[in-house]
Amino acid sequence: MIVTIDGPAGSGKSTTARRAAARLDYVYLDTGAMYRAVALGFLRAEAPATPSGANAALPTLEVDVQYEGEAMQVFLGDEEVTDRIRTAEVGSIVSDISTLAPVRAYMVEQQRRIGREQAERHGGVVLDGRDTGTVVFPEAPVKIFMVADIDERARRRLQEYEAAGEEVTFDEVRTEIEERDRQDRTRNIAPLRRADDATVFDTTDCTIAEQVGFVVDRVKAHEERGT
Ligand code: DC
Repeated sequence: MIVTIDGPAGSGKSTTARRAAARLDYVYLDTGAMYRAVALGFLRAEAPATPSGANAALPTLEVDVQYEGEAMQVFLGDEEVTDRIRTAEVGSIVSDISTLAPVRAYMVEQQRRIGREQAERHGGVVLDGRDTGTVVFPEAPVKIFMVADIDERARRRLQEYEAAGEEVTFDEVRTEIEERDRQDRTRNIAPLRRADDATVFDTTDCTIAEQVGFVVDRVKAHEERGT
């Protein structure tokens, strides 16, 4: 079973996808973390977010994930970078990096491979990102498109930064999210959009437990229908 959850930054995808995967005994694949690892690779190679930067940096990068129990770990080459990719510096360039065609081609190929392998091994995978229901797994039987009010999304993202020890203000985070939304929605390749067959889910006033319950219920309903 492949479950896709797409939506803008801070809509609640990651927490929901991770916990829903745990409840279902599936594996969680955070595709944004993989783009962040590529962005970290570009930063380290001092490569610009341009096609020529991608030509220089991408052949030297390898991004993969491993699972430690339920927890997904992201690797850049041999180095585990799961925490190192959650910085404002990576956040500020990842959207630009993710517009590059060779970066997207590499990511989609890796995500399909990992998704298929893990679905076979664990019975199911919950992916979250921007294009998991439209491009990575358009045939996924359960697709959700999560949305939430911009101020609520900025509050959630600010909490994440604060937990990681980053010093940023609410206004900075809100501006960053707005800019990222705009870039993600207007880019040429695989823009953020709802797949025609995805269910829209507004999480503005939802608790995390409600969000997880919504996803789990949809998967169970699908299994009961046997379709
Ligand atoms: O989910 P996130 O904020 O960690 O994602 C970081 C960036 O990666 C986001 O700005 C857009 C990009 N991304 C993407 O283009 N496609 C995906 N499937 C996931 C993320």
